[in-house]
Amino acid sequence: MLNSPRFFLRPMEPADLEQVLAIQAQAYPPELHESAQVFSGKLRQFPGSNWVAQGDEGLLAYLFAQPALYLHPPSLNDPGTPVTGADALHLHDMAVAPAARGLGLARSLVRDCLEWGRRQGLHWATLIAVGDSPAFWAGQGFAPGNPVTPLACYGPKACYMHRSLLG
Ligand SMILES: CC(C)(COP(=O)(O)OP(=O)(O)OC[C@H]1O[C@@H](n2cnc3c(N)ncnc32)[C@H](O)[C@@H]1OP(=O)(O)O)[C@@H](O)C(=O)NCCC(=O)NCCS
Repeated sequence: MLNSPRFFLRPMEPADLEQVLAIQAQAYPPELHESAQVFSGKLRQFPGSNWVAQGDEGLLAYLFAQPALYLHPPSLNDPGTPVTGADALHLHDMAVAPAARGLGLARSLVRDCLEWGRRQGLHWATLIAVGDSPAFWAGQGFAPGNPVTPLACYGPKACYMHRSLLG
């Protein structure tokens, strides 16, 4: 655990990807890892909806999100395919470095991300919870839903979750 909770949030930049990949490697099993090319594609296609938490000595966390269609989440390894008529902000991937957990970084990233989605006029926030994260997402106001698109690529425990951005 880090001694100091000092961090600030800022938009992700291409130069961040090396550290983002390092956090991904610490946060997920190999079968869920996405490549530098996939992350670069998302950043290029959706430059305004990806954030990092910057600490004194490097990045502590990241969040990739992208406009999407409600109940149609993008697949794993999707390199940032734009959709027409997006009505949802899909929180594709958020991870906090193990040493920085419990400091409120994830809560802060989600708050700013949802606010961005509201400003875009999007109706829904959606995500696919993996591992033991459904309880975390429930704490952020998300509930399980039934997507049209299959989730198999995210593993057997993957859970589609959603919440309204209205009101
Ligand atoms: C899940 C994860 C993002 C949480 O990050 P974090 O920075 O430690 O979370 P925060 O400190 O912002 O916690 C915010 C709240 O969620 C709670 N929380 C954190 N992790 C939780 C979990 N696994 N289950 C339930 N609640 C959790 C905290 O207790 C806190 O509650 P509070 O607001 O009542 O105090 C982090 O553990 C992680 O990166 N895990 C691996 C990657 C992952 O699973 N990402 C999500 C994939 S869909």
